[in-house]
Amino acid sequence: MPRLEEITPDNVSAAVDIKVGPEQEAFVAPVVTSLAEAYASRRTAWPRLVYDDDRAVAFVMGNFDPDNETEAFRCGIWRLNVDRAEQGKGYGRFAVLAFCEEARRRGHRRVTVLWEQGEGGPEAFYLRLGFRPTGEVLFGETVGELLL
Ligand SMILES: CC(C)(COP(=O)(O)OP(=O)(O)OC[C@H]1O[C@@H](n2cnc3c(N)ncnc32)[C@H](O)[C@@H]1OP(=O)(O)O)[C@@H](O)C(=O)NCCC(=O)NCCS
Repeated sequence: MPRLEEITPDNVSAAVDIKVGPEQEAFVAPVVTSLAEAYASRRTAWPRLVYDDDRAVAFVMGNFDPDNETEAFRCGIWRLNVDRAEQGKGYGRFAVLAFCEEARRRGHRRVTVLWEQGEGGPEAFYLRLGFRPTGEVLFGETVGELLL
């Protein structure tokens, strides 16, 4: 059963070592960039590692910013990187559901995610998990929402 861990000095290199496939790099920033952004926006970023036993298999970063003027940035998944060798095993779904659980715990009833359209992109994954496009496009990306 996978679990979430906070980022610590002991696991930060394992986090940075998580790599998506080369053809997927256009769809998500590297973990090292996300961690730098998390450091810069400590107040809102929610970065976590997904572990299965002793293996770090995925990285997820949420954002909780209830006062943001843009609704899509109030409670959402900012990044999701499942290691290329660990894809297709349910870890992406686990990470999204774990984020949703945290969102619910904080009193949110709606989570959003932005994805880039394109072959090899994550659209089908998010649709499979129940996200629906809101019709908005932000920074060229499709906005998807899931009601909790
Ligand atoms: C997209 C991504 C997060 C999916 O993670 P994953 O661990 O491979 O997905 P899961 O094994 O949890 O799959 C959950 C379900 O989605 C489906 N799914 C996953 N990727 C899919 C795809 N590319 N196309 C269609 N269905 C897909 C699975 O078949 C599974 O369906 P099921 O309910 O029938 O079992 C992963 O491929 C990834 O990290 N991609 C590169 C980075 C990226 O695009 N991140 C998102 C940025 S917004």
